[in-house]
Amino acid sequence: MHVFQPFPMDLLEINAFTKFGKEWALVSAGTKMNANTMTIGWGGVGVIWGKNVAYVFVRDSRYTKELMDQGDFFSVAFLNEEYRDALKYCGAHSGREGDKFKASGLTLAAKLGIPYPDEANLVFLCHKMAAVPMTEESFTMPEIKEKWYKDGDYHTMYVAEIIEVLSR
Ligand SMILES: Cc1cc2nc3c(=O)[nH]c(=O)nc-3n(C[C@H](O)[C@H](O)[C@H](O)COP(=O)(O)O)c2cc1C
Repeated sequence: MHVFQPFPMDLLEINAFTKFGKEWALVSAGTKMNANTMTIGWGGVGVIWGKNVAYVFVRDSRYTKELMDQGDFFSVAFLNEEYRDALKYCGAHSGREGDKFKASGLTLAAKLGIPYPDEANLVFLCHKMAAVPMTEESFTMPEIKEKWYKDGDYHTMYVAEIIEVLSR
């Protein structure tokens, strides 16, 4: 297991566009017994309801969504380029089929009971504040529904307070 240092949030300097959009991230949820992780390319960080938050978008069909709905916590983790294949794996297979941490060569770690991959270089430990399901009526640009939701597999937006940042 690696040694992570809690990182002061005020000193964090990241480019959210490249972090989520290009590096991608892993969202992990569940307990030590049933933890699962999935790749995301959509998300961000900011300030909402007076808290430093992360927000991620998870489609109804994802197994990870079931675990995020069952618990109050999840993590968002970033990994170096050498783990790109692991992220590809976690973005193409479902935890319903088996242990994705193991299958992708990642190591399950946990802090405050919140799962994350030990190989990460930056982890946000997140406390869920809101789960906002997108519906047909959510979109003010009609082409969004047409482009992204033809199959009716909508996203839920999860907004969560970042309660701790771990880095190494
Ligand atoms: C680069 C990349 C980005 C992805 N981004 C998202 C995302 O933001 N939200 C989402 O719901 N699925 C996203 N996915 C798809 C899920 O990672 C994928 O469906 C995964 O197999 C779900 O796993 P699960 O069923 O174990 O939760 C992405 C996949 C890839 C490869």
